[in-house]
Amino acid sequence: MASEVHAHHRLGEPYKRKEDARFIRGQGQYVDDVQLPGMLYGDIVRSPYAHALIKSIDSSEALKVSGVVAVITGKDLEAANLAWMPTLSADMEAVLAVDRVLYQMQEVAFVVATSRYAAADGVAAVDVDYEPLPVVVDPKKALAPEAPLLRPDKKEKQPTNQIYHWETGDEDATNAAFAEAESNGVVIRQDLYVPRIHPAPIETCGCVADYRKATGKLTVWLTSQAPHAHRTLFALVAGLPEHRIRVISPDVGGGFGNKVPIYPGYVCAVAASVTTGKPVKWIEDRSENIGSTGFARDYHIHAEIAADKDGMVNALRVHTLADHGAFDAAAQPTKFPAGLFHICTGSYDFKHAFVDVDAVHTNKAPGGIAYRCSFRVTEASYLIERMMDTLAHDLGKDPAQLRLQNFIKPEAFPYRSALNWTFDSGNYEGALRLAMKNVDYEALRQEQAEKRARGELMGIGISTFTEIVGAGPGKHFDIAGIQMFDSCEVRVHPTGKVLARIGVQTQGQGHETTFAQIIAAELGLSPDDVDVEHGDTDTAPYGLGTYASRSTPVAGAATALAARKVREKAKKIAAYLLEVGEEDLEWELGRFFVKGAPAKGKTIQELAFAAYTNCPPFLEPGLEAVNYYDPPNLTYPFGAYICVVDIDCGTGMVHIRRFMAVDDCGTVINPMVVEGQVHGGLTQGLAPAMYEELAYDADGNILAGNFQDYLIPTAMETPLWETDRTITPSPHHPIGAKGVGESPTVGAPQAIVNAVVDALAHVGVRHIDMPLTPWKVWKVLEEKGLTS
Ligand code: CDP
Repeated sequence: MASEVHAHHRLGEPYKRKEDARFIRGQGQYVDDVQLPGMLYGDIVRSPYAHALIKSIDSSEALKVSGVVAVITGKDLEAANLAWMPTLSADMEAVLAVDRVLYQMQEVAFVVATSRYAAADGVAAVDVDYEPLPVVVDPKKALAPEAPLLRPDKKEKQPTNQIYHWETGDEDATNAAFAEAESNGVVIRQDLYVPRIHPAPIETCGCVADYRKATGKLTVWLTSQAPHAHRTLFALVAGLPEHRIRVISPDVGGGFGNKVPIYPGYVCAVAASVTTGKPVKWIEDRSENIGSTGFARDYHIHAEIAADKDGMVNALRVHTLADHGAFDAAAQPTKFPAGLFHICTGSYDFKHAFVDVDAVHTNKAPGGIAYRCSFRVTEASYLIERMMDTLAHDLGKDPAQLRLQNFIKPEAFPYRSALNWTFDSGNYEGALRLAMKNVDYEALRQEQAEKRARGELMGIGISTFTEIVGAGPGKHFDIAGIQMFDSCEVRVHPTGKVLARIGVQTQGQGHETTFAQIIAAELGLSPDDVDVEHGDTDTAPYGLGTYASRSTPVAGAATALAARKVREKAKKIAAYLLEVGEEDLEWELGRFFVKGAPAKGKTIQELAFAAYTNCPPFLEPGLEAVNYYDPPNLTYPFGAYICVVDIDCGTGMVHIRRFMAVDDCGTVINPMVVEGQVHGGLTQGLAPAMYEELAYDADGNILAGNFQDYLIPTAMETPLWETDRTITPSPHHPIGAKGVGESPTVGAPQAIVNAVVDALAHVGVRHIDMPLTPWKVWKVLEEKGLTS
């Protein structure tokens, strides 16, 4: 008898998120929910100056505050060899500043007390004597010969404020293509700034460190996107044996790259727990999160395209100045200091490209993390999509037509880009044509022409981006030396229920549901029969964590392959029980049966039971498997977004009237989860385009250090997102899936900026830097005599 095939056995079903049962009841367990007997609380003394010498720190008054147990300074940590820690980019970062501070909000001392309030009172009572030094905020000025050297601690290796110069591509061939275009074609140039922003997850960063002297075991509950990597780094930094460190990343309230680095507060809490013998909790507040933890972007880009007179692109040349702040704590794979900025040739068939990036220190917080993007992909996509629109406008061509003529053709995949990356698959024209049809592009252009004639401002912005997600392969990608593979362990219990553990760590993406769906589809079970665990290094297999849309491409593949290993063993058991050869068996969802005799079969549940009760003598009992997956290539999701805006001439206010997002992430595991990812990601793409900027004044003071000044969009500002999809499976991923979590954040900003510039192109506006605040837009309108 054939087993019943339920819809939810298959991939592509909108299965409701299993984890929501606890979230909507308020029963998520976050780090700040951890309460341990005798727990102490930490709070941090931070520098009010962006650059200063520390002349002295007087803790005596703080130690008199009721409840204060200890004040730890940089000098105390220095004595334990813990004052400095390695960053993810192999720089050394001060855990607590010893003799100088390099940015406002830098950690100077750690106060430990019996309550959070007492710790805060203690912080207020610590007296630090600073001697202010000249401040460098502008990365261009950081390179000037007269600029003060911000990192004298590493002047032997790095005598200026320049951290690195990195380049890729064929410079000679690119220059030759530009020389040719100067005489026979067109060359366009544009400066673009991708502002410093902050991921601003709802849950700020924090930890509870619990060191037990009796067992030598350190348990750290941590807001971590990469618990295993963090455990290894704790072992290396603190010199503790790794098997005695347990990192537990419980429910995480959003990460977006912000919870990939190790922060000084974590190290201080561990040091405080080791010192006091008590558990120590440290949870930062909102301003600490925005002001001191990993920022994103801050790329000053100069881009050029060489094309023929008809707009066929030939070469791309890009120079970028990257502001990394006081320490180089960028979260990039070791071999790629500018992340995957290589994707800047986009969806277009460039023959030549040359890209270089200079990174510098300034008196700002360290970072440069992958904020909902695969390491600098947002910056790369923004630049190429802005440039394609600029080329179209300069040539008087329709931006959609210019793209259609320049796309890499579907038959060209696998496609080797001018910067030497092999795009696995794509159908860019298909996605753009679908988006154009969905919005009736021709009618919109007609409407725009009519409005323009009446003096009204309407713009249509297109973004046809390509991403590069799913790092490894391990031979090319590592973080702090650890190769970027990922893992899954599948245990089938005797009754056919499954416990799976994965090496990645969800922060709201729904892995407990979608990874259960992968296993359910492979084994013919209901996702209800599969529980997925993650985030506990004592139980989960080693993995590199969740960021850069790598979970589905890497751990998702490991999950499918672990389930397939289970199925292979189940097949051997089935052959034994049915007394046939394995080659005589056929699989249909949930069941092996004898070819030609469908009534003679065994379900996966029966086979699981047999694995524990009647296992063939030539096999080990039990039914479980683990897979560590090192992907052969990255996956290349893409999308076509069209944004329609109206601009109010009186106020400069930009109104997003329509936003159509067509995404292609290959095989879709759960369309409802993907839809949620796209909606959230689009809003996080709207954010830098219109609202967010982490600005500093000339003295290095943060100008947007809380949610009154740092404007994250709420439901009120969010337009109605319209979504659709095409499906171009990845040829090398076991289930054909590509990542999706970051596509909308990567693709959206330029669609919005392109729309606003498109609304103003007829009066000679060529570019406006993000964020497109009403004030900034109004100033442009005023300059062009368009204010009403
Ligand atoms: O690495 P991260 O989880 O942030 O991103 P992702 O791999 O793009 O996955 C985000 C969520 O969408 C996960 O729950 C995925 O399993 C799901 N997804 C999907 O259902 N189908 C895809 N093709 C890609 C992702």
